[in-house]
Amino acid sequence: MMRRMITPAILQDQIDYYRARAAEYDEWWFRGGRYDRGAELNARWHADTAAVDAALVGWLGERRPRNVLELACGTGLFTRHLAPHTEHVTAVDASSEVLAINRARVGGGNVEYIEADLFTWQPQRRYDAVFFSFWLSHVPPDRFDAFWAMVGQALVPGGAAYLIDSAFDRTSTAKDHVLPGRNEGIVTRRLNDGREFRIVKMFYDPKPLTARLRQIGWSATLDRTANYFIHGSLEPHTAVAL
Ligand SMILES: C[S@@+](CC[C@H](N)C(=O)[O-])C[C@H]1O[C@@H](n2cnc3c(N)ncnc32)[C@H](O)[C@@H]1O
Repeated sequence: MMRRMITPAILQDQIDYYRARAAEYDEWWFRGGRYDRGAELNARWHADTAAVDAALVGWLGERRPRNVLELACGTGLFTRHLAPHTEHVTAVDASSEVLAINRARVGGGNVEYIEADLFTWQPQRRYDAVFFSFWLSHVPPDRFDAFWAMVGQALVPGGAAYLIDSAFDRTSTAKDHVLPGRNEGIVTRRLNDGREFRIVKMFYDPKPLTARLRQIGWSATLDRTANYFIHGSLEPHTAVAL
């Protein structure tokens, strides 16, 4: 299937979708409601979520970043792991609705929240680490290089990024979501009330993503969990001037 054109209207739909989904967002992670796939698949899912949670906490323990920039922080499923392991987290997202949930879940004093569109936002300082989960897959391919340039600009010399994202598996999403071909680029997402939105969804495998990143100056050490996720750390070959 040919990849469809990703227009500004789809990027706005993507923001609108996550704003409208905020209160039901966590059902995906905890396999509630339409994301409940039955005991066997749920157990596989939970094994993989535990694996990426542990991998991130392990990475934070090894690197000990004092400050972390979290891009597209959402409701705080990962902010809750970042905040206890660092002195300061700057958490950015376009949705005031998810930021409110994140703040209620995590905001214990060392998390600063910024409401901003990541396709225009630029970091105002540098960080020891940049983290983003389930965000790279929402970055259109023609914005891929600019996105990684922004991540590079956000890092101190010697800093590193960590990403977690979706591997292609049709049972990862809600039962009533159709996951088209892995390279289509645009998928339709539905809320519990039936409203539909179009969003960007790119699926990456560790090996080709590592090769692609190498071309633009990043060393990646990426892994895949048993079924559902890719994850790992990334370091720029050279620091980028602000
Ligand atoms: C799949 S969720 C990931 C949230 C969180 N990182 C997690 O792992 O649960 C994608 C997030 O991107 C945010 N988002 C969508 N478009 C955005 C944009 N243009 N700028 C900033 N955030 C955006 C949404 O509000 C949503 O919180």
